[in-house]
Amino acid sequence: MPPVFAPFTDAALPLHVIDQDECANWLQQRPQQVSDWAQANSFTAACGQVLLVPGDNGKPDMALVGYGTAAQRARRRFVLAGAAEKLPKGVYTIASGLDQSALAMECLGWLLSSYRFDRYRNQGEMKAGLLAPEGVDSAAVESLAAAECLTRDLINTPASDMGPDELQAAAEALATQFGASISMTVDEALLDQNLPMIHAVGRASDWRPRLIEMNWGTSGPKLTLVGKGVCFDTGGLNLKPGASMGLMKKDMGGAAAVLGLARMIMAAELPLQLRVLIPAVENSVSGTAFRPGDILTSRKGLTVEINNTDAEGRLVLADALALADEGKPDLLISMATLTGAARVAVGPDLAPFYTDNEGDAAALAAVANGSADPVWRMPFHDPYEARIEPGIADLDNAPAGGFAGSITAALFLRRFAGESRYMHFDIYGWNPTAAPARPKGGAGQGARALFAALPEMLNL
Ligand code: BES
Ligand code: ZN
Ligand code: ZN
Repeated sequence: MPPVFAPFTDAALPLHVIDQDECANWLQQRPQQVSDWAQANSFTAACGQVLLVPGDNGKPDMALVGYGTAAQRARRRFVLAGAAEKLPKGVYTIASGLDQSALAMECLGWLLSSYRFDRYRNQGEMKAGLLAPEGVDSAAVESLAAAECLTRDLINTPASDMGPDELQAAAEALATQFGASISMTVDEALLDQNLPMIHAVGRASDWRPRLIEMNWGTSGPKLTLVGKGVCFDTGGLNLKPGASMGLMKKDMGGAAAVLGLARMIMAAELPLQLRVLIPAVENSVSGTAFRPGDILTSRKGLTVEINNTDAEGRLVLADALALADEGKPDLLISMATLTGAARVAVGPDLAPFYTDNEGDAAALAAVANGSADPVWRMPFHDPYEARIEPGIADLDNAPAGGFAGSITAALFLRRFAGESRYMHFDIYGWNPTAAPARPKGGAGQGARALFAALPEMLNL
């Protein structure tokens, strides 16, 4: 079950969120016994510090939570969540200390800190519940939490239980929940429907390759989301070494992100026509695997020389993007765990994105931090186009040398997005170290920022 606010109770314990710079002041304005208790317990309002203050009867009367200094907060995404994880069992209500601009995201952090990936082992439960504060749209915050939890679950589930079949089932469950229509193009049908590169990448696996298509909404601008659904990426014949392959269950992180974004859009009933395309494959090794040196003809007609079977994401996305472009969307967005180079550039925290549309870039930058979903713009640098042109085919899927690897991959994709207004995210989809509300493991990236920016981008 996705996390929700606690049901109303008038027994909720008031929780005061205290800025470290204001702490002495704040305590001074309280009864002596409160400041004495705080001092005796070394409460300084450092980020995430927690103190229950007893009343005259010895029972807790209030909870104090440290909000740190502005400089400390700048180093974290969620602050309240760090405290929420430490609070004893009970229901809390935020009584003071958070201004309206921070409130919704801090509430989201609280809800997300109760996320557990417990499919294979009981992970215990979070003890502290939170009443929805006044002025916060609780359903909207719960919807953001549910979307993030969906994304995390999909990524965390290992390939043994999250192959193309199961990814399809997850998309079908979402479609059913929100009344979307859904259809599949599976295996040989990919060839009949002229999606040859999705077939080529996925054909070596016993789990048959497919394109998942979900449609929702009947009026308004057309938004098409394309997510990389490589359920496991061995690298293919250009096999990844063990250390690089270990985490590759997360190579469907783009699919997980677009399904999370789709969930937010449908739950909010945004007035738009949504189309979601997910090429779902395993990049595997067998006698039928596509080979280095092969030249594939894409749906769009462009030929692609395979110089590394490990650069498979751009191949499956290329056919999906060409199909998306044919539908003449008002906005086309792809999300993919596409390159290791993106990680080298910006690390696991930031979602790098590409667009030629200045307005879209500005709209996204304006809302990203406030959505607890930091993004960073990267350039579609035209002078690097030559790097993806090999000679005997139109395109090279893996330019030698690897310079600007994330950019050349993005330029490759842009060729297939045609004339569509196009944005691309090269995400990591994984949190390597735990932080408040962000456990180690699968992580949504880009979706919340996009969701917040869509009204501006599409004039909703
Ligand atoms: N799925 C990987 C990219 C990746 C690797 C994302 C590690 C996140 C973490 C992708 O299919 C891939 O292997 N890309 C290659 C491309 C190269 C062969 C041109 C890469 O980035 O090394
Ligand atoms: Zn790969
Ligand atoms: Zn991959």
